Amino acid sequence: AERITSTTLAAMKRRRDAIACLTCYDAAFAGLLESAGLEVLLVGDSLGMVLQGQPTTVPVKLEHMVYHSACVSRAAARSLVIADMPFLSYATADRALAAAERLMGDGGAAMVKLEGGGELAQTVARLTRFGVPVCAHLGLLPQSVHRLGGYRYQGRDDAGAARIRADALALQDAGASLLVLECVPAALAQALAGELDMPVIGIGAGSGCDGQVLVLHDMLGLLPGRSPTFSKDFAAAYGSVAAALAGYVAEVKERSFPGPGHTLY
Ligand code: KIV
Ligand code: NA
Repeated sequence: AERITSTTLAAMKRRRDAIACLTCYDAAFAGLLESAGLEVLLVGDSLGMVLQGQPTTVPVKLEHMVYHSACVSRAAARSLVIADMPFLSYATADRALAAAERLMGDGGAAMVKLEGGGELAQTVARLTRFGVPVCAHLGLLPQSVHRLGGYRYQGRDDAGAARIRADALALQDAGASLLVLECVPAALAQALAGELDMPVIGIGAGSGCDGQVLVLHDMLGLLPGRSPTFSKDFAAAYGSVAAALAGYVAEVKERSFPGPGHTLY
């Protein structure tokens, strides 16, 4: 089967085929996820919390992201591998280019993701001009947890929603080809998915997005008592890892996940 690229994902959006994505940090899971039909494997900096036991994603280093991206990329023949740019690694456009060089060159990733709004437009334009596909990330920005004061839904009032919309348009204009929207009301996510050309992958953002992403260890029930309310234990629902992954893909494709219990309206 052909490699999935941002072009594939844009065509899926136009056809209204939902995009299935999960986080992935190693080769064994990369093989399982690809077999289950996941289009996108996100090497998220959530690995700081999930694999390293850190309290936030802030301590994650570029070398960690490169190592796990390489583990995933070696085992993924078809899925699009996106690597998170860690905390402050894209604080200037020069740093972002250097980080992309490592994540794509040594890590084998085919796209990078960064958290933030219009203030990153110039950086995104530079990355894309030099051939680095960029996934934007708006709504709840986990790398900004110390400024935000906690993990909370974003864009709940008119001003906040308008800011997220303006940021999304600025990043799309700058060349971003994908957007992760985390923890925003379902109506806002659905409106943005309708307005933007780039596909919108939601997490805690309702079923009106162009695709969904969850943290792998959350949806496999491996972090008991620590799973966010928008997630779901697919291993408990389906009985095995392979069945959980297949069930997740099926529920995303038919848009039955996320359901009302996982959504802020
Ligand atoms: O790091 C991560 O896992 C992420 C997803 C939650 C979108 O950025
Ligand atoms: Na992340």
